[in-house]
Amino acid sequence: QDKRESLFALSQWAGKYFKDQLWNSDTGKAIGLAYFKERGYREDIIKKFDLGYSPDQWTAMTDTAIKEGFNSEYLKEIGLSIERDDKSFYDRFRARVIFPIHNLTGRIIGFGGRTLKTEKSVPKYVNSPESEIYHKSDVLYGLNFAKKPILDNDSCYLVEGYADVISMHQAGVENVVSSSGTSLTTGQIKLISRYTKNIVILYDGDAAGIKASLRGTDMLLEEGLNVKVLLFPDGNDPDSYVQKYGSDAFKNYIAEHQEDFVFYKTNILLKDAKNDPIKRAEVIREVVQSIALIPDEIKVSVYIRQCSGLLDIEERVLLSELNKIRIGKS
Ligand code: GTP
Ligand code: MN
Ligand code: MN
Ligand code: MN
Ligand code: MN
Repeated sequence: QDKRESLFALSQWAGKYFKDQLWNSDTGKAIGLAYFKERGYREDIIKKFDLGYSPDQWTAMTDTAIKEGFNSEYLKEIGLSIERDDKSFYDRFRARVIFPIHNLTGRIIGFGGRTLKTEKSVPKYVNSPESEIYHKSDVLYGLNFAKKPILDNDSCYLVEGYADVISMHQAGVENVVSSSGTSLTTGQIKLISRYTKNIVILYDGDAAGIKASLRGTDMLLEEGLNVKVLLFPDGNDPDSYVQKYGSDAFKNYIAEHQEDFVFYKTNILLKDAKNDPIKRAEVIREVVQSIALIPDEIKVSVYIRQCSGLLDIEERVLLSELNKIRIGKS
């Protein structure tokens, strides 16, 4: 299609523009590049991920694009420019460092822009909107780089943010993708399961991360994926852990702290329920509900046996609950 190709070409041009700003403009170097270096990113990694900078001006990017002959309707359509009431345009990304989002074949389809300010009133990230070339529910950040490493390792790490993907690459762990802050979609899960059935969720060690670790994961079980979970200590995320403690400590941490998702969920819920019998009964039901989603009968039996130990309840009780859930579903 002609239009799709034009949108791809425009995105590619914008990627180059932001990159050029980062590496060659005075403010880009002094602010953007300095920011990435302060975060501990190496130059080869900054280049590999096509990172960029958008200047602190209202129309710099839009003006340059128009001057170079790009169509303002297309600029609006992929969200690089926003239209004012008077039909003039301004830049969506201003005074931000830029994380281009690539599709599977490595073409740029969108952008994430991080503010350098610390005020709470400014949104930390601004992202490209959905467009004809950017369907968010079918995109995982970093998958273009991670495809082969996922196949080689037969496993995939799933993280929350752009920065986590980048720092893990720098640490030499390249089988990693991010859902970019939104909860996982079935499209994204199907995408991963083309490459591997083994997924390890590395969520931020904050309250939001713990919540997210229990959400969206049932879909992973339903797809027949083997799911492990790992939380980082003291509110760290993979990026901050790598940068604070180094690559080796990071790799040791993730090797030692992965936990099977069903057991992880069981333990978290049990901790909450303490010795309250009603709450414990609820936990048992919830755990069996997750197990009931697993398509593989042998795995189901193993989980029932081991969870019976964790939950301190007879296997036959779990099995009868499992059958009830299954009858209810058929
Ligand atoms: P850094 O502070 O740069 O390390 O970012 P982070 O990735 O650790 O951010 P955080 O854990 O707070 O959020 C995870 C992901 O959610 C980010 O990478 C973004 O994709 C997304 N996100 C975070 N803040 C915002 C926001 O203000 N708006 C939107 N739309 N997305 C956000
Ligand atoms: Mn869509
Ligand atoms: Mn977080
Ligand atoms: Mn984070
Ligand atoms: Mn972070």
